Amino acid sequence: MSLTQSNYTQAPPAPPNVMVIFGPNGDLTKRKLIPALFHLSNAGLLPDSFAVLGVGRRDMDDASFRDLMAEHIREHVGAAFDQSVWERLVERIHYMKIDISEGADYERLRVRLGELDTQHGTEGNYLFYTAIPPSLFTRVTGYLGAAGLLQETENDWRRVVVEKPFGQDLESAAALNRELHRTMDEGQIYRIDHYLGKETVQNILVFRFANGFIEPLWNRHHIDHVQLTVAESVGVEHRGAYYEEAGALRDMIQNHLLVLLGFIAMEPPNSFESSAMRDEVNKVLDAVEPLSPEDVLTHAVRGQYGEGNLPGGEKVRAYRASPGVDPQSPIETFAALKLTMDNWRWAGVPFYLRTGKRLAAQCTEIAIQFKKAPTVIFKNTDVERIDPNMLVLRIQPAEGIHMSFGAKVPGQSMGVGTVNMDFCYEDHFGNKPATGYETLIYDCMNGDATLYKHTDTVEKGWEIVQSVMDVWTALPPRDFPNYAAGTWGPATADNLLKNDGRRWRKIKSSG
Ligand code: BG6
Repeated sequence: MSLTQSNYTQAPPAPPNVMVIFGPNGDLTKRKLIPALFHLSNAGLLPDSFAVLGVGRRDMDDASFRDLMAEHIREHVGAAFDQSVWERLVERIHYMKIDISEGADYERLRVRLGELDTQHGTEGNYLFYTAIPPSLFTRVTGYLGAAGLLQETENDWRRVVVEKPFGQDLESAAALNRELHRTMDEGQIYRIDHYLGKETVQNILVFRFANGFIEPLWNRHHIDHVQLTVAESVGVEHRGAYYEEAGALRDMIQNHLLVLLGFIAMEPPNSFESSAMRDEVNKVLDAVEPLSPEDVLTHAVRGQYGEGNLPGGEKVRAYRASPGVDPQSPIETFAALKLTMDNWRWAGVPFYLRTGKRLAAQCTEIAIQFKKAPTVIFKNTDVERIDPNMLVLRIQPAEGIHMSFGAKVPGQSMGVGTVNMDFCYEDHFGNKPATGYETLIYDCMNGDATLYKHTDTVEKGWEIVQSVMDVWTALPPRDFPNYAAGTWGPATADNLLKNDGRRWRKIKSSG
């Protein structure tokens, strides 16, 4: 299982295969998939018998597709770029023009895959990656099935990575599952959430369960509340059309933030095996108290960015002025929720979740605020006003763990200051560049679904956000845009905590 292979540079190369990318010209392919393959190749984890086949409508051939990928690779792998690694990978990258919504074209795809098997020795093992709009998922898998491309034998495997969003709501997620099962077994379906592939997300479990001092404090007796922030300074870029169907709640909360919540709040699993982990995450999601329509009005906040300036000063346009976006769009680019759990460990502890585009920083972190210590012995001194202890698990960037506590200011009077203990991954383990997709792609090639989502986890995620979606759809926003790009979101998000006598942790703007 992946977690035990965290030092994945020591793992063996994946078995021979062709990775077929539907949506080869999209952002995901350029920003994440090809860079992830680069990192895997750099770590010696791709087999020699390997090929990538981009399939799409654009009129390109192998050479022009390779050129296009080459244009972006340096930008996305940064300092890790190595020309010899790229050359090894790029000669395995191919392109085929097909209309993916045209069944007849899949016969040609089957023939082409056979040719690649001969050319690269990929033995008929295919990983189909659906980096396409969700409305096309089942059409593609239906045609793959009809062309016999999802038929496994004893000697070869066929797997499909299904990108998020997995459905638009609970009902459509269930329908999507039914539809996928018509052409393949559950074991062939890999529902991806790339947050599960991030080292620092997996490290939440190691930090919690491999350190004796943490678990006794990890409950309602000692923790006041938890803040989960996934802030992005980027806007919707070229994904306006996709984002108009999604919004922040579907795009980020239903999946990535609930993954973080699951890992922070779960009970210790019996092992890191797929089913043990899944059961514990599911128990957390089951324990989340449903929000009634009235709760939604007080526990959920939405926002949309207007034009503004990024912390570095650059002026950026409003969401509604982005390509592919309706100039009157009601879609939220910011969402914040207050969730509580009805279980023994967490009863009464609020979990505040927030995410947004065009915020003042690019940062994912979990801040755990402990309860204030009784300060009776420090009566009438500064100590009474000291901030409570806070533990921050920093997921990205500058991955690390940060703890704040009070210390005496040297001198005759009883002065106190908040000081920090910081652990930075890069300082200790060096910087291993990764997109979060490396482990997941590698695991899929190896048939390990532990870090992929099972259908019940996806459906529980939808159950949690469904009432919010219902209320937000029924009551279109009247104040959009309600935050300027480059800020921390709408003022109402501050009220979510202020009403409870709390405030969001101040995160440094990234300029
Ligand atoms: C994706 C969302 O799943 O996650 C994007 O669709 C978002 O909108 C991205 O930008 C964030 O991922 P990361 O790894 O950059 O935090």
